[in-house]
Order: sequence, then C-alpha cells, then structure tokens
Amino acid sequence: MMKTKTFIFSLLVCVCCVQNTVAQTHHINVDIKKPLYSVQKTMYGIFFEDINYGADGGLYAEMVKNRSFEFPQHLLGWTTFGNVEVRTDNARFARNPHYVRLSSPGHKEKRTGLDNEGFFGISLQSASEYRFSLWAKTQQGKSAIRVELIDRESNVLTFQKISIDSKEWKKYAIILKAPSTVANARLRIFLDSSESVDLEHISLFPVDTWKGRENGLRRDLAQALADLHPGVFRFPGGCIVEGVNLETRYQWKNSVGEVENRPLNENRWEYTFPHRFFPDYFQSYGLGFYEFFVLSEDIGAEPLPVINCGLACQYQNWENAQAHVAVSDLEPYIQDALDLIEFANGDESTTWGKLRAEMGHPAAFNLKFLAVGNEQWGKFYAERLEVFVKALREKHPEIKIIGSAGPSPDGKEFDYGWAEMKRLKADLVDEHYYKNPAWFLANANRYDNYDRRMPKIFAGEYACHVPNRKNNFEAALSEAAFMTGLERNADIVQMCTYAPLFAHIEGWQWRPDLIWFDNLRSVRSVNWYVQQLYATHAGTHVLKTTENKLAISGADSLYASSVIDKEKNAVYLKIVNASTQKLKVRYTLLGFAKGEHNFTHTLLHADNLDAENTLDKPFTVVPQSAQYTFSDNILEIELKSQSFNVFEIKL
Ligand code: AHR
Repeated sequence: MMKTKTFIFSLLVCVCCVQNTVAQTHHINVDIKKPLYSVQKTMYGIFFEDINYGADGGLYAEMVKNRSFEFPQHLLGWTTFGNVEVRTDNARFARNPHYVRLSSPGHKEKRTGLDNEGFFGISLQSASEYRFSLWAKTQQGKSAIRVELIDRESNVLTFQKISIDSKEWKKYAIILKAPSTVANARLRIFLDSSESVDLEHISLFPVDTWKGRENGLRRDLAQALADLHPGVFRFPGGCIVEGVNLETRYQWKNSVGEVENRPLNENRWEYTFPHRFFPDYFQSYGLGFYEFFVLSEDIGAEPLPVINCGLACQYQNWENAQAHVAVSDLEPYIQDALDLIEFANGDESTTWGKLRAEMGHPAAFNLKFLAVGNEQWGKFYAERLEVFVKALREKHPEIKIIGSAGPSPDGKEFDYGWAEMKRLKADLVDEHYYKNPAWFLANANRYDNYDRRMPKIFAGEYACHVPNRKNNFEAALSEAAFMTGLERNADIVQMCTYAPLFAHIEGWQWRPDLIWFDNLRSVRSVNWYVQQLYATHAGTHVLKTTENKLAISGADSLYASSVIDKEKNAVYLKIVNASTQKLKVRYTLLGFAKGEHNFTHTLLHADNLDAENTLDKPFTVVPQSAQYTFSDNILEIELKSQSFNVFEIKL
C-alpha cells in the first residue's frame, strides 16, 4: 500500500546552492505544449498463462484436484478406502466420463470413501464458507454420503451429511464453514448408507470468490490483476497454446460450455524442467475462454487471445516437420480462429454467439485483437501465418492480427520473422525478451530508431532475469528504466505485458513472476509495483523529454520519459536513477503556467538491490508518495540513488 505523507515546501531551493553543483545537475526539458503522439489504452497490460499452477491451484479457485477423475491415473490426488470403483458406464458427462462408485465395505464397522489432497493441500480460512458440490446418483434411489473437512491428524473440522435421493444424475451442493485457519486440510467423503452411490465432478470453492461468482476466481489474486489497471489482457499462453504435441495444444472450444464437460488437458509445464517435475499438473479448463473474456471485461482490459497456428511447441519439436500440421491441412485451425471471433463478437443467431449468450453474456465481448501463434519462428511459422492472415483479412478485416518475432529480441530468426511480418502486413509484432539487468538498461533506447512504418510492436513477454532468477529490486529497477523507452516510443510500441504473471510458491516451474502466492496468501513483487506505476500513470500522449536535445536513456544512469493525460489534466514525469549516487535534476516544463504548482512524488527505492517482497514480508519495497510544490515551470529535485520516481503534476 502506498503511504501518503504531505510535506509542503518550496522547491525554490537555494539557487546559489544549485549553481554551485551545476556540473552535476541534469537539465531536462519537457515540452508540454506540443504532445508528440498518443499512448494507446492497451499500452500496459497483463499476460496470463497456466504455468506455475497459475490456473488450477491458483487464480481458478477450485480446491479439489482431479475433480472429474479424468487424470490418466484416475485416482491421482485421491486416497481411497473401502470399496471404491472407477467407472464410465452410464456417464453423465460424455467428455469427462469417469466417475467413482462407493459401495458397502461389507461390515458395519468398516468404511468406504475417499480423500482429496487439493493443490498443495486444501487451505481454509477461519470462519470462511466453502461451497461443496458434486453430481451423484444411487441405484436404489436412496443413499447418503458424509462430507468432511479434516486436518492433517484426521481431526474432523466440519462435516455435513447429504442424502442422495435420485437414481438419475443430480447436482447436490452444501456450504461448509471452516472453524479455524488450517493450511493443510483435506476433503473426505464417505458412504453413509448401506446403498452404493456414484459420484462425479466433486468440487469445493470458497464462497467468497472474485465478484462472488460460482466457478469463480481467487479473490486476492484477481484483485491483484484489477489493481494493475491493465489495458490489455493476453491469454491463455505462452507455450501451453502450442502444447508438447498438437494433441495437447490449447483448444479454446474445449474450454467453454458447461464446466463439468470441459475435457481435461495435460499441462505443457508438467515435465519441462528436469529439476522440477510436476506429474499432477493438468488443465481442467474450469478457467476457460469465457472466463478469460469476462475477466478482461471486469478489469477493463482489451481481450487478446492467442490461438494455435498449427505448430506444436517448437522448442520441444525442434525442426521436426512431422510434429506440426501441414500447411495444406490448416483448415480446422483456421476455422477455430474464425469461430473464436464469432464466440466473442457474434450475435445470438450465430452458433458460437449463442453459446456465449447461454453461458451468461448476451452482449458481445468486442474482440479487436487476435494473436496467431505464440512464440513462433522460422519458415514453419511464416508459411502458416500467411494462410491465417489471408482467411482473417477476408472474413474479419476489423480484427488486428498479431504475429510473433520468436523467442529472441535479435538474431537471424528475429530478423527473418520481422521481414515476414512486414511482408504479411501483420498489425503488431510480438517481441519477447527475458534478459539480464545490463541488457534491459542498454536497451532502453531499443525502439528510438525503429522503423516507424507498420507493423506496430507488442512487447508480449518480458522480464528482467537476475542470476538466480529471483524477483528483486534490481530486476524491477532495470524494467522501470527499460520501460521509459517503451513509453517514449509509444507511437510504435502499443502494448507490453510482463511474463509470467503468477507462481505458486510450492509449484513454480519458472521465475521470476509478477505475483507469488501460497494457498492462503499472495504477494505483489517489486516488479508488480513498477507495472502498476506505469499503468496508473500511462497518460494519453507522449511528451518530448530531452537533455541537451537527446532522449534520456542511460547517460549518467538516468532514464526518463513523460506523458500528459488530457482526460485527467495531469502530467506524469517518470525518471529512473540507476546509479549508486544521488543525482540532481532540474526539469524545465515548457508551456507551464506561472505560479505555484502542487505535485506528488512517488518513489520506489531500496538501498539493497537484492531486496524483494515475500509472502512473509510483502511490503519490503513498495512505492511511497509525498506531496510538494514548485514555482513556475522549474521543478528541481534530488533523485535518490537506485530509484524509480514518478512525478504527478495537475495542470
Ligand atoms: O513465460 C514463460 C514462457 O516463455 C512462455 O510460455 C513462452 O511463450 C516463453 O518461452
């Protein structure tokens, strides 16, 4: 949380004093009179991928793992006792046919039942309510189960009995209240009758989800997204769009419709890193495309879906043409893209628009962007993208197409990809960079000399990686410095999204990540605060900001950009001092009225570059705001060493 202190002091700070140190003072001109070009509303956004248990076990608030018994080992995540059988006959959900039958254990002193371990345990908050639901039937028309939440020592924390009163599949739901906070609970269900029962889609959600929705999102994690005020929301990946093989690629059609009938998929991140295998990592698709679109709307971001372009993960199928769909066989993939546009924007008379309406959203989602492929490269990609572009332009010229420049920010493949994007007239090119702090600082001027002609740029995945790949202040400061360059070049850089977004502290494959969590808590990294400061001070137009007529992009370790917000009547000056020295800066705000002006200085600073926010110490490095005044059009300030500063001046 930002603390706001109010100090009023005049920044007509001792002129002679300033003159004495004039050699060290940086003179920066900001031209308020002539805004250069507009900043797109999509400029600062977020990118969600189901990596690090970001969806199941993370943002998606379901607490039961393998709720439909569809994992390849059908009882993974469950411990059974007594007389339990996995069956598929007379299934309720055709695409998730497995269910369990609990039958009498054969003696009144014995029990039949099953426990679910949840995702890294089931964590309960004291006095919170949890909605337990399942589908059930019984052959005789009358049976019962007992549902318990138990702790590690098998003590019953709370329980309820459910009478199963139908021979047909029927949904049952109860609310369980947790008597205390327990990090590592389990869900236990056992037969409480001599008659057998069949159970399917066993689910447990907190009642208090984001916006109170059933099948909802974890409130704290969704709030951390909303508080970023993102302008664009890229989903669902990332490499999971491609899959290890095409069978396991992300197929959006499997992620919509009734939640119980969305088929399970593997997660591409299960076995990616040999030092961190997660054999229980699957995608339930409970958080699917409908939920992604609704979330975009909730947080005010433009939805930006990524669709598979006929390529399986190129890293995992290096140069293996057989792993991909032949260019001549792309038709179903293209149809998926066209149908997705219909799902988002079509009216209720269309097949997919009708489904969207039935799911609860009659109004269109107003989709404007579509990314074809994730992080693709080479001829394999270009020849497939070409077919997509042709079909999309013909049927949906209103949709902006985003192509990929591959995994590296430079090199042979990058140059080839860019040339192809120009040839194919993609609207935006998605560039990715996971690099060290030195790269981020050295590349703050990356876009200053870019070709101003089409296509525009989407920095779709980036994060500064320090040697042991932690989120720390050094990484955040380097990103802040680099982002002055994105902002300065907002005429061509129209979107940027940090990656990855989420990581479960016990289930991560990849770091750094923007938001970390366990089952009960979450923490916003220092990097999160950088993103938030940019997004909440995005402005509407870029202002020319120079020292000695040059962009401020690393000389003496200073990085600066400025914008004006014509709607809010404010100017935002952003400046990073990446050095270990204090630096004096004298802004001349050309066009500013005479008289006294108020401004807010928001500072993100740490003495220790390795400082980080953790679950135990979540507010180690957070922005601090204070208010000051200055006179006329001169604002002088001493910048702390290693600091990211945002000055907000009301006009
Ligand atoms: O963000 C993690 C991964 O990095 C993404 O899935 C992929 O697109 C990139 O290689």
